[in-house]
Amino acid sequence: MEKLTSNELRAKYLEFFKERGHAIIPSASLIPENDPTVLFTTAGMHPLVPYLLGAKHPQGTRLTDVQICVRTGDIEEVGDASHCTFFEMLGNWSLGDYFKKEAITWSFEFLTKVLGIPLERLSVSVFAGDESCPRDEESAKIWESLGLPKERIFFLPKKNNWWGPAGITGPCGPDTEMFIDTGKPACSENCSPACDCGKYLEIWNNVFMQYFKGADGKFTPLEKKNVDTGMGLERTLCILNGYKSVYETDLFDFVIKKLEEMSGKKYADGGDDMTAMRIIADHVRTATFMLGDVNGITPSNVDQGYVLRRLIRRAVRYALKLNLPQGGLEEIAKLYIAKYESVYESIKNNADKIISELQLEEERFSKTLESGLKEFEKVITHIPTKTVPGKTAFRLYDTFGFPLEMTVELAKENGFDVDVDGYNNAFKEHQEKSKLGADQKFKGGLADGGEETAKLHSATHLLNAALKEVLCDPNIMQKGSNITSERLRFDFNFDRPLTKEEIEKVEERVNAEIAKKIDIKCEEMTVDEARKSGAIGVFASKYGERVKVYTIGFSKEICGGPHAKNTGDLGRFEIVKEQSSSAGVRRIKAVLIKEDK
Ligand code: ALA
Repeated sequence: MEKLTSNELRAKYLEFFKERGHAIIPSASLIPENDPTVLFTTAGMHPLVPYLLGAKHPQGTRLTDVQICVRTGDIEEVGDASHCTFFEMLGNWSLGDYFKKEAITWSFEFLTKVLGIPLERLSVSVFAGDESCPRDEESAKIWESLGLPKERIFFLPKKNNWWGPAGITGPCGPDTEMFIDTGKPACSENCSPACDCGKYLEIWNNVFMQYFKGADGKFTPLEKKNVDTGMGLERTLCILNGYKSVYETDLFDFVIKKLEEMSGKKYADGGDDMTAMRIIADHVRTATFMLGDVNGITPSNVDQGYVLRRLIRRAVRYALKLNLPQGGLEEIAKLYIAKYESVYESIKNNADKIISELQLEEERFSKTLESGLKEFEKVITHIPTKTVPGKTAFRLYDTFGFPLEMTVELAKENGFDVDVDGYNNAFKEHQEKSKLGADQKFKGGLADGGEETAKLHSATHLLNAALKEVLCDPNIMQKGSNITSERLRFDFNFDRPLTKEEIEKVEERVNAEIAKKIDIKCEEMTVDEARKSGAIGVFASKYGERVKVYTIGFSKEICGGPHAKNTGDLGRFEIVKEQSSSAGVRRIKAVLIKEDK
């Protein structure tokens, strides 16, 4: 049988839904915008949350796309046949438009007619119902009407047939999932798609998103019913082509080949070498997409940057195990760039950055890797128990840059455990000491609530608005903020240093608002109203809740405060430093100078 390629599957999917009135939209960034509750985009629906909750989408009520996603929850599983930290999700959405009948019928048509899957190999599951939502007889009936025999329609509980929300709160609902029956004999009388014996492999999920889960855990019906679907590209290619693992698909096979060449080892021999090749192939691909994202990130010790750092460092260690030559990981990244640049423009635009950042992080790590490994050897010969103490694991992290899972892996290879709780405690202690706690960050970087910080906070809003205006770039976004009683620090996305003139203009613009002595206005409203009013800020995390919107002269932002009362109280605004923070991100430090009244 002809093998199906990734390009063909993407194209067939988008075309199918385009023919059925769906607008093809581009993939959103891997870094969720305006949602601080999650680090990465984990599903196609994630960037569409505002629209699933009722906001009008400019492209209409039927959408389809291929969304790039990252899920790092199962990082230890990478190396098996199917877990990837990065994947592409094919999806189609109805925003209060069609519902179960069309969604299921089209899924059925796409699977059987376009992909040519024989009816006999298809099984589905539907929601069995519970106190929050009734049994989904309607979906089962639709499947039956399409020719699916009753015995291949499985009613399963919430644990299996409910999707979402993506974060803590948000849209969710019962789903119907589609499986390929591999033809393996049933593992027991009760064998169903819910068990992982390998008989049933999931390829698609249709979620009937009709509830909103609030912070109190309650489900409220949404005004409009939506459909959210997701099909994993890698998995589907693997299953349809009858491969043993995703690494045989055209998204990976060329990388495995290169790794074999560079290491002189054979993937087909299996064992540790095969696992190492899979881990490198997966992690370098994810790193390539993180570095090459439109909101591109760089390795660091916090948030997304730390996930990226862990992936690169883990890849470096496996590259050592395979004896890859110097620069081997960059060779792999280059192959990925060539593979994906025609599909994702940002990969093409950021090709140089991807390679140089990868190199830089490898260099940083190689400086401490060897001494860290020596230290590790020393440590394990001296501990009497078979457990590496948490404090030691933390020292390996803090001094030698060993991500925890790397220490755990090293320990395991030597027959040891790691006291992970002890590590977490040591980490927390360190955070508290260095006052870098997450609380502080989520308070918007306000270290205290005093008068001076409140004034600098108001100045930060003005600065944010002035940058957009002076640099004529509405896409400028806050990337970080930290305020003490002495100064403000503001990070924003911009790809070059500001000129002296621009800095002066920004100062002038902020000082002009200060000179007007405007009362600072705070209003409470729903997130929807805030968005409609043109306010900027964090939207997705607080749906359904009322938020505060601060209007400070020409700036309007969703924000928890506190702020000054009148811009006239701020004093003269002066930028003291403008520098690079990380690639594509600039950092401004500024102060307010008391004026003699
Ligand atoms: N959002 C659904 C999923 O990720 C479609 O499976």
